[in-house]
Amino acid sequence: MKYLKIIGKHKLSGEVKISGAKNAALPLLASTILAKNELVIGNMPDVVDTNTLLKLLEKLGATYKRDKNTVTLNTLSINKTKATYDIVKTMRASILVLGPLLARFGHCEVSLPGGCAIGQRPVDLHLKALESMGAVIEIKNGYIEAKAPNGLKGAKIVFDKVTVGGTENILMAAALAHGKTQIINAAKEPEIVQLCEVLKDAGLDIKGIGTSEITIIGTNQELLEFKTFEVIPDRIEAGTYLCLGAITNTKLKLTNVRPDHLDAVVSKLEEMNFTLESTKDTLTIMPTNEIKAVNIITSEYPGFPTDMQAQFMALATQANGTSTIDERLFENRYMHVSELVRLGAEIHLNGNIASITGVPGKLSATDVMATDLRASSALVLAALVAEGETNIHRIYHLDRGYEDLEGKLKLLGAKVSRHQE
Ligand code: EPZ
Repeated sequence: MKYLKIIGKHKLSGEVKISGAKNAALPLLASTILAKNELVIGNMPDVVDTNTLLKLLEKLGATYKRDKNTVTLNTLSINKTKATYDIVKTMRASILVLGPLLARFGHCEVSLPGGCAIGQRPVDLHLKALESMGAVIEIKNGYIEAKAPNGLKGAKIVFDKVTVGGTENILMAAALAHGKTQIINAAKEPEIVQLCEVLKDAGLDIKGIGTSEITIIGTNQELLEFKTFEVIPDRIEAGTYLCLGAITNTKLKLTNVRPDHLDAVVSKLEEMNFTLESTKDTLTIMPTNEIKAVNIITSEYPGFPTDMQAQFMALATQANGTSTIDERLFENRYMHVSELVRLGAEIHLNGNIASITGVPGKLSATDVMATDLRASSALVLAALVAEGETNIHRIYHLDRGYEDLEGKLKLLGAKVSRHQE
């Protein structure tokens, strides 16, 4: 296994180019199962998770070519409909092939994703919604076996909870269904908006994009003609680099970013006394003379993203005063707390509320363990301001979602290197 060695407290400065969004790329790749043509996707982040989904599509019979950040993909040749455990166990987002496979072939088997480091993460809402569309679903030997031999039927789906993956799966299922599907209480994340727009450009009749009520008129199992498109910039990667500027109190400019997707994050940074400047596709954070404490509640978009919670916790260790974070989406997304404490942070947990008393300039290096993707990035941030040499173990989590993290950090002047255990 590999680990990252970071020597803290080096001066950083410069610009960082934000990559394509992993969480947009994954459903977009799954949606290509609905395509009748070969298609090209640009700005595809070269991270483990997107490569895993490409491998899954290949196992199903698709062919693809990747040239850095451009992927040319042909899914018409898909002739298998089983997403096997060996792939799904490495990436839960594999569940996103369930909707499109079922819609196109009328049957499929997808390994049931197991537990996860951040919570139970059930997929009951995906399954219930597909059942409302006429699917017959059984769980057998750890697999979701779904059948709809005469195709899925449009239905009114009311999600009990806002679910990103559930909304995506139903959007893709509804695309080829017979008749009209209404999704009520749909997720509104920018990644959902892009999925809707790509499907619309591919000829799908879809209304209510970006709202909590989306209406789709299915194509009666006719495949869609996809256009070439580029994956939107990664708002969580961007937010992580904004936290890097903030925690090191350096001027840092992000390019290839969508500032309008980061309102909640920018607003919390402003509350912490930072000034930010934006253009259409750049965002610059300025240093401040005092980092102030902040209170954060995670929620669905456009609220503060759970995927930024760990990074803000690292940042709060450098604030004056006590910050609080209330994690409302996942029941176990605090695995980074004990690791940050090992670096000298003062954090107290009470259920889903974390109180972080700032210890500005006082973190000290040690060995820490990465537990999930965003928790790992929080450890990187903390290590960059800790006195001494921090080793972050199990960094394969970082490789799942941050493109060329070390390269980007080194360009900014960080002392970071990768080693074999
Ligand atoms: C997506 O996960 C993201 N993953 C996650 O990013 C992100 O944290 C999450 O949305 C919330 O924003 C991808 O886009 C690939 P949900 P997803 O369904 O779709 C519960 C990262 O670090 N729920 O919106 O799995 C669920 O347990 C990751 O990049 C059910 O109860 O999230 C959670 O409490 C990690 N039943 C809440 O809903 C269901 O059937 C929201 O989950 C589905 C979800």
